[in-house]
Amino acid sequence: MMEPKVLIGREQIATRVAEMGAQITRDFAGRSIIFLSDLARHVHLDSTFDFIGVSSYGNRPSPSEELKSGWDSTGEVRLTKDVDQAMKGKNVILVEDILDTGLTLTYLKKLLLAHQPAAFKIAALLDKPTRRKMPIQGDYVGFTIPDEFVVGYGLDYAERYRGLPDVCVLPREG
Ligand code: IMP
Repeated sequence: MMEPKVLIGREQIATRVAEMGAQITRDFAGRSIIFLSDLARHVHLDSTFDFIGVSSYGNRPSPSEELKSGWDSTGEVRLTKDVDQAMKGKNVILVEDILDTGLTLTYLKKLLLAHQPAAFKIAALLDKPTRRKMPIQGDYVGFTIPDEFVVGYGLDYAERYRGLPDVCVLPREG
C-alpha cells in the first residue's frame, strides 16, 4: 500500500475553518450560536441540535436609543424559524445568550412546551435579573450581570462587535 499523501494540511484546515466560522458568525442571525457551539463541546451526552428564530414586533428604537435606555419590546414575539425536529418526549434545553426582560424566553417556553417534551430547561450565558418583566428564570446561568448593554462573544450592537472574544460593556452616552 502506498503512503497517503497530504492534500490539505492541518494548519490550512484550521485557518480555513476559522475563516468559515467568521463568515457564519457574520451571516447567521442567531446570536446564541457561539455560546451553543462552545457549550456543546462540554456536554458529553447523546444530543441533537435544532435552531429556532424569533424577532420582536414593535418599534425598535435607533441603536443609540437602544443603547441609552435599553429596549422594551411590546412582548409580541414572532417566529421566524420553527424547529425541524420532533420534541415530544425529548429532554429539551433552550440555549440563549442573554436573559433580559424575559419576554422572548416566555414566548419560546410556551411554544416549546406545546410540543410536550419530557423535560424543558433554559440555559443562558448571561442574566440581567433587574430588567425582568416576566417571571422566568434560567435553569443554568453562566453569569448574573448588572443592567449594562453588553457585546461580544456573539452579542451585537447594531450587528457590530459579535466577533469580540470577550463579553464587553458598551458604555451608554450621557
Ligand atoms: P428579552 O426578551 O428581553 O429577554 O431579550 C433577550 C434578547 O435581547 C437577547 O437574546 C438579545 O438578543 C437581546 N439583548 C438583551 N440584552 C442585550 C445586551 O446587553 N446586548 C445585546 N443584546 C441584548
